[in-house]
Amino acid sequence: MAVIFPKSSDIVLKVAGLVIALGACGATAAYTYYTWPTVIDTGYQPAQPIPYSHKLHAGQMGIDCYYCHSTVYKANFAAVPAQTTCMKCHMQVKKDSPRLALLREAADTGKPIQWVQIHRLPDYVYFSHQAHLSAGVSCVSCHGRIDQMIEVKQEKPLNMAWCLDCHRNPEANIRPAELVTKLDWVPDRDPAEIGREIIAKKHIEPPTNCSGCHR
Ligand code: HEC
Ligand code: HEC
Ligand code: HEC
Ligand code: HEC
Ligand code: HEC
Repeated sequence: MAVIFPKSSDIVLKVAGLVIALGACGATAAYTYYTWPTVIDTGYQPAQPIPYSHKLHAGQMGIDCYYCHSTVYKANFAAVPAQTTCMKCHMQVKKDSPRLALLREAADTGKPIQWVQIHRLPDYVYFSHQAHLSAGVSCVSCHGRIDQMIEVKQEKPLNMAWCLDCHRNPEANIRPAELVTKLDWVPDRDPAEIGREIIAKKHIEPPTNCSGCHR
């Protein structure tokens, strides 16, 4: 054996094999990222400490998303509201309801309510709500019809392929920025046409290069 494959060519073969193997891995990995719908967390709908309903508050009562998620527009993060926001109404409305006992307790002690976070990206991904909202991407494109959910459920996969799908063809998901919290907005003509006009006007250009999202 040693005669047919001398030591040196053995190494060459091994290195070549390794390169081919790595190439195959890379291709598989790329294939996985772009085509495999990683739906690990889609549908995640944990029970919350207080039975707060978006369907009631944002849907039926029509409270605007920004009333409670006020930082979403300005900051990179979209914090959930503090109990003081809830107490603006619940000092009077349903003030003795047992379903609000935990809310009253939080308001008394000042300790934050332990809402279970649902949507979460890995730390190595850069994401900004503000950039999307001012471009005219509605909450509904990424979170679904929250205003119809009693309990919030993660509807989209939030994986790389999903981000890139929209970044490559954002037209149909762009609307006038003042309508981003109107989840039930119905465009009066082809939404892609409206999107294209806004994209041209605002020079909207979603990043598709790696460093756009991995900084
Ligand atoms: C703009 C006013 C307003 C704000 C702000 C508000 N609520 Fe409400 N909430 C209401 C009204 C009105 C009802 C329905 C009362 C009824 O059914 O007659 C309600 C009902 C509820 C109920 C059901 C209570 C029961 O006994 O059935 C819960 C739980 C609740 N709200 C939690 C919250 C939480 C948590 C927040 C803050 C994140 C909040 N609400 C913010 C007005 C408000
Ligand atoms: C009255 C206050 C209030 C309003 C109005 C409101 N939200 Fe919320 N939102 C909350 C609270 C409290 C939570 C945390 C508990 C939960 O997940 O239900 C939350 C959670 C969320 C989450 C999940 C956060 C996570 O952990 O990933 C999303 C997404 C969201 N809201 C979107 C919206 C959108 C879109 C609108 C407008 C259609 C809206 N909210 C209107 C109070 C509000
Ligand atoms: C382009 C997609 C996109 C749009 C548009 C969008 N979101 Fe989000 N949202 C996300 C992603 C992704 C996360 C998870 C962020 C993370 O983990 O850093 C998230 C997280 C959240 C959270 C939880 C954040 C936390 O800190 O617990 C809330 C609340 C929320 N979004 C509300 C909204 C509201 C309200 C709107 C519309 C006004 C909106 N989002 C529009 C993609 C989007
Ligand atoms: C429904 C469409 C849509 C989805 C889904 C989406 N984006 Fe975007 N994103 C946009 C648009 C449109 C812009 C361009 C904003 C501009 O040029 O003004 C953008 C811009 C960005 C930027 C550049 C912002 C800046 O501050 O430079 C980053 C980073 C980004 N998106 C990350 C993400 C990530 C990460 C995801 C997935 C978790 C995601 N996006 C999902 C439409 C989307
Ligand atoms: C539009 C935003 C966006 C762009 C552009 C982007 N990524 Fe990502 N990437 C993500 C998100 C979101 C995740 C986390 C979710 C997932 O694993 O799909 C991720 C995850 C990853 C991971 C980790 C996957 C894992 O399973 O641990 C790698 C590696 C990666 N990206 C490499 C790249 C490379 C290389 C490029 C350039 C060709 C790139 N990304 C461009 C959004 C982006």
